[in-house]
Amino acid sequence: MMTPGAPVSILTIVGARPQFIKAAAVSRAIAARHDVTETIVHTGQHYDANMSDVFFDDLVIPRPGRHLGIGGGGHGAMTGRQLELLEGVLLETMPDWVLVYGDTNSTLAGALAAAKLHIPVAHVEAGLRSFNRRMPEEINRVVTDHVSTLLFAPTATARSHLLAESINPDAIRLVGDVMYDAALFYRDRARMPEGFSELGLAPGGFVLATIHRAENTDDPDRLAAIFRGLAGSGQDVVLPLHPRTRQALASLNIAIPDRIRVIPPVGYLEMVWLELNCGSIATDSGGVQKEAYFHGKPCVTMRDETEWVELVEAGWNTLVGADADAISAALSDPRCPPGRAELYGDGTAAEQVLDHLVASGNSQNRAPT
Ligand code: UD1
Ligand code: UDP
Repeated sequence: MMTPGAPVSILTIVGARPQFIKAAAVSRAIAARHDVTETIVHTGQHYDANMSDVFFDDLVIPRPGRHLGIGGGGHGAMTGRQLELLEGVLLETMPDWVLVYGDTNSTLAGALAAAKLHIPVAHVEAGLRSFNRRMPEEINRVVTDHVSTLLFAPTATARSHLLAESINPDAIRLVGDVMYDAALFYRDRARMPEGFSELGLAPGGFVLATIHRAENTDDPDRLAAIFRGLAGSGQDVVLPLHPRTRQALASLNIAIPDRIRVIPPVGYLEMVWLELNCGSIATDSGGVQKEAYFHGKPCVTMRDETEWVELVEAGWNTLVGADADAISAALSDPRCPPGRAELYGDGTAAEQVLDHLVASGNSQNRAPT
């Protein structure tokens, strides 16, 4: 229970790569103030050193107070085990707020565990919608939003999706995107990935690609078409390979064309360096689409829809699906429109999140909206 005058206690639940980066922005803001305390719980969803530890080390994220060690397995098994263990952690700690990020299984488990215990849930990156219910992330984000007490929307479009789903407007805060905060802070700290100079690529002379979305990795035709499309661009491609995609390529026996340079997943500081030094970006990642924009690079998105529609409308992002010809064509003639509006706030989203959590601290035990 919240004690007047005491710092607001936040229990942050993370598990997957993009959440470490989002949490880094907020944890950094927490370190600069005295009215908030934070304990981080890592579900273990991502567990390889280059998918997890590297972010805590490089971005100086406080070490998780608890690590649940639950990675791998199907959606039901993973989410169910996370839910069970998170409930135990929450019963022990009873924080003023549970803070969750994005749309992974760890987000869903954290939000459900907290809401059932009547602990208020704050959802950072609320209101994102692809309107494709076949995506696991869409289920996770819809459910999370509907059990959250405070919903931090990164964009006006996200806010409008929440309103259209009859979420209480008083529960929504339009704060901008914590990933923009991170991009602004870490861009001066970017560093060249080890071994990159041996690839012999000139700055600006390569496409940076990432692929991990289930709809692409789990469909052999789509995955093969994506590789044909990247190869058909006639450019050198640097591909830090997600473990999910590595496994899919191995099991499908898809050969990697010569000019696609596969490297292991890189840390965030290296990733930002690649984003700053590439010519264009091809991705199915949510976060990387926005980082392309933050760093002024044209983006080709290898999905059939995107949650970040404002980038498509602004002409910085081209949606090409898993169509080999469309991928090659878009990468051969990348679009870089003049001007970049501030679509994702002013770089103070993390501070705003904390201000709202402190101001609403006495909303403890309010029923979910
Ligand atoms: C998850 C999220 C997705 C997010 C992505 C970020 C869900 C449903 N999906 O997808 O929204 O965009 O993280 O990267 O939560 N693996 C390893 N080592 C690791 C992590 C994963 O080998 O460190 C392998 C395991 O075989 C695992 C598979 O990758 O089963 C998939 O991992 P999982 O966390 O289930 O989903 P992602 O595809 O990473
Ligand atoms: N990223 C990284 N190393 C990589 C690939 C991505 O640090 O090898 C970062 C990227 O810069 C972005 C985040 O991971 O900040 C995006 O995560 P991912 O693409 O795994 O998930 P999504 O955003 O699609 O949920």
